[in-house]
This record gives sequence, C-alpha cells and structure tokens, in this order.
Amino acid sequence: MNLDNYIRKHIKNIPFYEGVDPSIKLAEESGILPEDIIKLNANENPFGKTLALGENLSSINIHEYPDPNQKLLRKSLSKYTGKKIDQLVAGSGSDELIDILIRIFLDQGDKLIDAQPTFGMYEFFAKIQGANVVSVPRDENFNLDLESILNQIDKSTKMIFLASPNNPTGNLASLKEIKTLLESELIVVVDETYFEFANKSYSGLIDDYENLVILRSFSKWAGLAGLRIGYAISNPKLIQRMLLIKQPYNINSAAEQVAILAMNKKKNLLTKVEILIEQKELIFEFLKNKKGLKAYPSSANFILCDFGQYDSNDVFNQLAQKGIFVRKFSNKLISNCLRISSGTPDQTGKLLQVLDNIIS
Ligand SMILES: Cc1ncc(COP(=O)(O)O)c(C=O)c1O
Repeated sequence: MNLDNYIRKHIKNIPFYEGVDPSIKLAEESGILPEDIIKLNANENPFGKTLALGENLSSINIHEYPDPNQKLLRKSLSKYTGKKIDQLVAGSGSDELIDILIRIFLDQGDKLIDAQPTFGMYEFFAKIQGANVVSVPRDENFNLDLESILNQIDKSTKMIFLASPNNPTGNLASLKEIKTLLESELIVVVDETYFEFANKSYSGLIDDYENLVILRSFSKWAGLAGLRIGYAISNPKLIQRMLLIKQPYNINSAAEQVAILAMNKKKNLLTKVEILIEQKELIFEFLKNKKGLKAYPSSANFILCDFGQYDSNDVFNQLAQKGIFVRKFSNKLISNCLRISSGTPDQTGKLLQVLDNIIS
C-alpha cells in the first residue's frame, strides 16, 4: 500500500509551521545550563510562573470532562472584557480559534487575504482547508497597503486576517483601515493577541459590524502559553456557530481554572506587562541608536530589527552562543531581520551587553 496515494493532494504541499523549541531543548543542543538560557524567541512572558497554582490545580476534578459551554470561563471573560457572555468563546490558544473560523467560512478554492509579513498560522490553516491565500505585502514601514488589499478582493474572497499589533512587525492597524475593510463585507478577523501590551482594541465595533471577529490570548500577558488558552469576541450568532463546531472539550480543566485565576489577578499580572513594555522600549532605543540598523517601533512585547550591513544569521548565532535565543525568519520580506521579545530587566541588561559587543 502506498499511503501517499490516500493523502489529500493539497495536504502534501503544505509548508510546515516552524514552531520554537522549548528552553530545555535549547539548553540540550547548546550545552548551556537551562537556568542560563535567555529565551526571547516566542514573545512569551519571561517572568515565568507568577501565579500561585498549587491549591488551584489540586482542586480540579481531572476525572471529569471540562464544561463544553465554558460557562464559568465565559462569565469571567465577560467581566474582564466588558462584553456579554454570548459574545465570547474560548479556544485552545488563539491558534485554535483561527482554525475554527477558517473551517466555518472557507470552502476549497475560497480566498483568504493576509498582509505579509505577519503571523504564519492564518496561511497554514487556510492551506490545510484547501483555500487560496493571497498575501499582500505591507509597505516599507510594515503598514497596510490598503489599496492593494482592496484590489485583491473578488467574488471568491471571504476573509481577511490582520494582527494588531502585528507579529512580527509590532504595528497597529488604524480605525480607518479596519472600517474600510469591514465595509467591504469580508469577514474581518482582527487578531489582538498582544492587546494588553498595546491597550488598543477594535472590540468596540462588534455591535456595529456582524462581520468582525476579535481574537485574544492568555499566552503573552498572562504567561499561560503552555496551557493554550485564548478567546474570540464577536456577535452572538457567530459565537454560537463557533461553539457548535468546536471540539466539545477544547479547553482543558487546568487551562480553564488558571485563566480564571489570571483574570482575578490581573492587577498583579499587568504590573509585569508594564515592566515588559519598558524593556521593549529600552531594546528599541538601543537598536535605533546603532548606525546601519533599522528597528521598527512596536506596540507589542517585541522589537523587529533589520540588521542592515550585519548578517542577521551571524548576529543570531553569536547571541545563541551566549545563551540568548531570538527569532529569525525565512520570509524574504524580513530575511535580514531578527525579532527580539522583551525579557526581564536582568535579561535585557545581558542582551544589550552582548549585542553591544557584536555590533560595535
Ligand atoms: C499574532 C498572533 N496570533 C496568534 C498567536 C497564537 O497565540 P496562542 O498562543 O494564543 O495560540 C500568536 C503567537 O505568537 C501571535 O503572534
């Protein structure tokens, strides 16, 4: 039997998504002690486990399935976001919500637009669905090229995905841009995974536009990337549809419990967010003042920098030798760029010291 003959044709051609390695693997491969690894490659929260989980986790009924309707979680989300319970649904990371939305709206051959460089999962899930992805390049400062986007819209175009702030460039979409796209009657997904760092949201538009979906995450601001939890805000009709087609038990009991805890402790967590914003600004100022480099201003918890006359691969390797891991890209639009996530103040100190030696 030849398994290849059974696999759907379009599935064979999907480029895999390059996820990042956990710090244990980075330590193993580099020979550096795990506690000396500075992991600035996935926009995670470097403060680690700041929530006291002990009692909370031991009270979970792990022998029972979690609530398919996410009642307690959605109630907490409602309090946290100021939206109604029927305007909210949780997913296993915002990643799962991207997948659910694509499966609801895209048939094979339908068109999805994104604006490159951007988060790779929109394209990844759309291709698995057999949809066509049209990637419209952003301008030289990575703002949207709205005219080119509008020119791409035709009868088969169903969805557009915009991250605001955008990963990996850090910039926000403007109200005018979002409204123009909403008026074009596509399903507009605004991915606000970095909302708590930017403090700017388009969720206020959901009562006016049935075609708007906002995505959020607990991975970054709340430091829960490993538990996989995010949520969508949209109109009750679409939220109901998402609830109907999601896996019934998509949010595991630990994720549910800890996300509620994070919302109850938001004051504490948001002080860490403030520190990370300060660290990001320090990294930006440092890079901006280095001759020949171009650092892009960012509303998220990372900075993208074009290393100009320096070879970014070389910078990447030299940082890695010192235990500092950042993100590099195969995307041609940012091939000489690195993305550096905000770390703790200690980590920033070490990062800037090492970078200063590399870029003299
Ligand atoms: C723009 C954007 N959207 C979604 C995600 C996925 O987030 P989650 O961990 O909630 O799945 C990321 C993660 O890096 C991201 O950068």
